[in-house]
Amino acid sequence: MKLILIGFMGSGKTAVARELAARTGLRVLETDTVVLERTGCSDMNEVFARGGEILLRETEIAICRDIRAMQCGIISTGGGMVMNKICIDYMKEAGGTVIFLDVPFPVLAERVAKDAAARPLFKDIKQARQLYKLRHPLYRAYADFRISAEKLPTELADEIIHILEAKP
Ligand code: S3P
Repeated sequence: MKLILIGFMGSGKTAVARELAARTGLRVLETDTVVLERTGCSDMNEVFARGGEILLRETEIAICRDIRAMQCGIISTGGGMVMNKICIDYMKEAGGTVIFLDVPFPVLAERVAKDAAARPLFKDIKQARQLYKLRHPLYRAYADFRISAEKLPTELADEIIHILEAKP
């Protein structure tokens, strides 16, 4: 089983991936962690300072290309992965179900407020709202399933497992 979690910053991808891993025994691949490993940066601010957003996006494309053959596991993606459709295509190549964790912007803004400094693209709330508007249709278009995600990670993991079990 291969699961690809997509959604905006603060939508709970990391927490849900961990919860799903605990239940299924599948391993989690956090694309943000791999970006830091590959660029040698200690955090996303350093990635942006060193090479701007383009360094992040190019690294994401390379990571997705390299994990094309991955057949099982849980991929927790950075929120901007949908900006390059090729990333989604690569991740789905060996089969995989894309799940969109959908959370309204005001809820995301409240969740992220505590550590907005760690997210270069959430420092300015107006810009973040614009990004959300731009990306929301993309998350919807690329997802096999959309989940209304204003819930606890445990509840979301239950829902996702239920969806997967019901899948033909
Ligand atoms: C980004 C989301 C972040 C991280 C980077 C850019 C984005 O990941 O990849 O700061 O463009 O939405 P999370 O969604 O895990 O916060």
